[in-house]
Amino acid sequence: MHLVEKTLIKDFEQIPIDEFWNVGAEKELKMHSIHAYPAKFPAFLTKKALEHISKLGINPKVIADVFCGCGTVAYEAKREDIDFWGCDINPVATMIARAKSAKYSENKLIIIFNKLTEIYEKIEPEGHSYYFANERLTYWYFEKQFLDLIKLKLAIEEVLKNHPKKYHDFFICAVRRQNI
Ligand SMILES: C[S@@+](CC[C@H](N)C(=O)[O-])C[C@H]1O[C@@H](n2cnc3c(N)ncnc32)[C@H](O)[C@@H]1O
Repeated sequence: MHLVEKTLIKDFEQIPIDEFWNVGAEKELKMHSIHAYPAKFPAFLTKKALEHISKLGINPKVIADVFCGCGTVAYEAKREDIDFWGCDINPVATMIARAKSAKYSENKLIIIFNKLTEIYEKIEPEGHSYYFANERLTYWYFEKQFLDLIKLKLAIEEVLKNHPKKYHDFFICAVRRQNI
C-alpha cells in the first residue's frame, strides 16, 4: 500500500519538465506528416538514440525497426545516411514508410501535381466501380468527400500510370483535397 501511495502521480503539473525531451512536433520535418498514422514515434527520438550510441562509440551501418509503422525511424535513418530495414503487419504503414523514405525529383513532383490538379476536375466519379467497392467507406465519409476521394484516386491512377511506382505511392499518401 505504501509503495502504491509513493508512486501514484497525484498532480501532473508538479512533474518537472526535462528540457532534453521537450522537443515540439512543430520542429519535425514536413515529410513526417505527409500522412497521418496512429502511434507514430516523435521523430527526434531516433536522433537522440543515435546521438546516445554515437557517444558510446557505436556507429551503425543499418537500423532495423520490425514494427516500423509509417517509417519515422526509416526516414530519420535515411537522413543520417544509415541503411534501414523495416516491416509492419499493416500494408498502409509500409506504403507510407516507403513513400517517405524514397528519393524524388522535385521537378517531376511539381509536373505531376500540376497534371493531377488539371485532370482531377474533369473526372466523373459517379457510377465508377470504386463507388461500390466497400460499404464501410460510405459509412465513414459524407457523399461529397467520398466522391472527391474517388476523383483523386482515379486522377492519380491516370496521371501516374507510366511513372515509377514510388511516385504513385507518394501521391496516394501525400495528396489531399482541401476540406477532405
Ligand atoms: C507504435 S507503431 C510503430 C511506430 C514506428 N516505429 C515509427 O517509427 O513511427 C506500432 C506498429 O506495430 C505494428 N504491429 C503490430 N503488431 C505487429 C506484428 N505482429 N508484426 C509487425 N508489425 C506489427 C502496427 O501495425 C504499428 O504500425
